[in-house]
Amino acid sequence: MDLINLFDFEAAAREKLSAMAYDYYRSGSFDEITLEENHAAYDRLRLRFRVLRDVSERDLSIELLGRRISMPMLIAPTAFHRLAHPDGEAATARAAAAAGTIMTLSTLSNCSIEEVAAAAAGPLWFQLYVYRDREATRELVGRAEAAGYSALVLTVDAQVWATRERDVRNRFHLPAGMRMANLMTSGLDSIEAHDSDSGLGRYVASLFDPTLAWSDLEWLAGISQLPLVIKGIVDPEDARRAVDHGAAAVIVSNHGGRQLDTSIATIDALPAVAEAVDGRIPVLVDGGVRRGTDVVKALALGARAVLVGRPVLWGLAVNGEEGVAQVLDILRKEFDVALGLCGCRSCAELDRDLLAGV
Ligand code: FNR
Ligand code: LAC
Repeated sequence: MDLINLFDFEAAAREKLSAMAYDYYRSGSFDEITLEENHAAYDRLRLRFRVLRDVSERDLSIELLGRRISMPMLIAPTAFHRLAHPDGEAATARAAAAAGTIMTLSTLSNCSIEEVAAAAAGPLWFQLYVYRDREATRELVGRAEAAGYSALVLTVDAQVWATRERDVRNRFHLPAGMRMANLMTSGLDSIEAHDSDSGLGRYVASLFDPTLAWSDLEWLAGISQLPLVIKGIVDPEDARRAVDHGAAAVIVSNHGGRQLDTSIATIDALPAVAEAVDGRIPVLVDGGVRRGTDVVKALALGARAVLVGRPVLWGLAVNGEEGVAQVLDILRKEFDVALGLCGCRSCAELDRDLLAGV
């Protein structure tokens, strides 16, 4: 089977993965309205392109938190990469480094913070879930900082866990011997099978801290020097508050449609957030990015970059590090073509006029 686009990778990954792993990766919450909507909202937007502007030389690179990366696509944090491939997050990180972009490591990874840092020379961000056990949380932050991660990504849209119905039906759990490597020291490293529920749902409900509030950003700033990226913002007032609380960037995200079902598609939420932030910090967006034109639209509506979640897992499942590299390469090439066809030579030239009045 030809693997020409990101949808082909999903179909090929499905053949390789256990039903429990595929369903976990693919699912959204409840009716999966937002899961569908994230990508459908991109498909509804039409581009009014410009011509005759010499697009022979195109520069896809961007600057983000003081670092230049090769393209405006980053790897979103996703849990449990060993469900896709035995090399796990180490393989994903190597592919990201080779592509010249940033990988965000999930708190719930199977390879440890240190293993991933050792595997790849590229820039890494660490995604943080705040546990009720603040000492365990503090340890995670300290380890990420010590291992050379360059930002903390605080996920704020998952304080209450939504039901992914397939995970409930499959009694989702980690296979015997598969652990969350960052949580061994605190003994919170396994996702056990539950007799009537998703093991992950039970884990989160009992261990993640639902009291998390704006004031905790000061607590985090007090225990770490790392720039803080707030992930899971869709409301402009929340974006303003994030800036006021010292966030280094925000990610417009609804967790890939896995949390509040029927929440707004992220590309529809982006313009108002970008307007509220008003250039003070970078705005990123994730959810449903599957084509180069999706990236063009996100940047035109005010994002500095996008993050990609599931397609990376499909690449990893299909062919480990090489599969992730292929997924990133396909997206880069599609974006490059779309950029040129919009009459633009750099990411900075993408602006709202491309989407105005159509
Ligand atoms: C996620 N996401 C996520 N987010 C996070 O902050 N920490 C995490 O551990 C995870 N884990 C996770 C697992 C899986 C299987 C998926 C699909 C997603 C959400 C992720 O970072 C991102 O917001 C979405 O995946 C983006 O949407 P797309 O690109 O998957 O459509
Ligand atoms: C998920 C987590 C772990 O979406 O964030 O499954």
